[in-house]
Amino acid sequence: MKLSHLSETLIGSEIVKLGGEIREKIRQGERIFNFTVGDFDPAIFPIPKELEDLIVEAYREHFTNYPAAEGNLDLRQAVVKFTREKEKLEYTENETLIAAGGRPLIYAVFRAVCDANDKIIYAVPSWNNNHYTHFIGGKHVVIEATAENNFMPVAKDIRPHIERASLIALCSPQNPTGTTFKKKDLEEICDLVLEENKRRGPEEKKLYVMFDQMYWHLTYGNIEHFNPVTLRPEMKEYTIFIDAISKAFAATGVRVGWSFGPATVINKMKAILTHVGAWAPMAEQKAVARFLGNTPAIDKYLAHFKKEIEERLNAIYKGLNELKEEGLSVDAIAPEAAIYLTVKIDLAGKKTRDGKLLSDQSSVTDYILNEAKLALVPFYAFGAEKTSPWYRLSVGTCKKEEIGEMLGKLKEALKKVS
Ligand SMILES: Cc1ncc(COP(=O)(O)O)c(C=O)c1O
Repeated sequence: MKLSHLSETLIGSEIVKLGGEIREKIRQGERIFNFTVGDFDPAIFPIPKELEDLIVEAYREHFTNYPAAEGNLDLRQAVVKFTREKEKLEYTENETLIAAGGRPLIYAVFRAVCDANDKIIYAVPSWNNNHYTHFIGGKHVVIEATAENNFMPVAKDIRPHIERASLIALCSPQNPTGTTFKKKDLEEICDLVLEENKRRGPEEKKLYVMFDQMYWHLTYGNIEHFNPVTLRPEMKEYTIFIDAISKAFAATGVRVGWSFGPATVINKMKAILTHVGAWAPMAEQKAVARFLGNTPAIDKYLAHFKKEIEERLNAIYKGLNELKEEGLSVDAIAPEAAIYLTVKIDLAGKKTRDGKLLSDQSSVTDYILNEAKLALVPFYAFGAEKTSPWYRLSVGTCKKEEIGEMLGKLKEALKKVS
């Protein structure tokens, strides 16, 4: 049976596919260090207790009907206050939209801003921009970010494509790299957008920026999070933010996210999502509205949560550097943010001790999985070239006591290749 062009050509998520293969191995009794999922093990990283209690309470209070289409007013007010206090950004309730996590909001941005065949600029590796662009039949303008820039896009790569583009999708801290925009690099991109929008005539559609800052609370060391509007206030007219409780509070399954941006765009996004029905559940909205006002609980939770993630990222980074210093084919980028480490395993074209050629990167991925029992997501799952030797390592399900053993197994596997 033939179905729509969209559904017939949709590429399934590579990460979900890989996750399925790993789960099958685990089901068959294999012990795998599964660092593939961009999620948290609730036994290691539970949601804040206060939030959990508020959700249960909200159901007990029978908050089980439809929420307001744009999100309940008390939650939008709480988001406005939270954003003002934590990020010094001034938005009103009417410029804020609630939905069931970041995904529906991203979909709504693409739908609200872009038409089929519109140019959409995004860097790779990045999370799911390729799929959202496909959804709306947009023209993919793909910028291959490099290790030299910590895999963040820079203005000079964007500039040649900017004419008649509708949307630039940016993300910082970035999934899959765990890296962030440096102030100057984001300023340069903003200046490019402002310059282009000044150049466009009154009848022409403006160039918008979707700024996905899902992980912005999770920065480490002296890393600072920057956003387009604080750096360049004129960007307020063209920037749509994506945010949620999903990653900041390990609450991926709770499904509450928010967008803020120009009211004209936010209103269209609301209209689109009304028909999709991707609202955050009523009780969760009530609970999050109350929780966001509890600053001491939030600060306490984040201090502990961030320390735990940072410890894992740093321990693995340090271990990988030691292997590199021993001359093994492994490298990593210093962790900056989120729950991810960018790791290079450069074995393609080499032979294992038993004479097997690791002919391409996918055989390297299989080798590491089978020999070191280490499961990572190759950057090609995030739109990079199939030959890219870089991987995402997620610590959301990592037990600290496993790290030494995992590094030992990886070392043995790397030593067997030359
Ligand atoms: C950068 C980024 N944006 C958005 C999302 C979607 O988040 P949600 O689970 O709230 O839909 C994710 C999830 O992995 C992400 O990594």
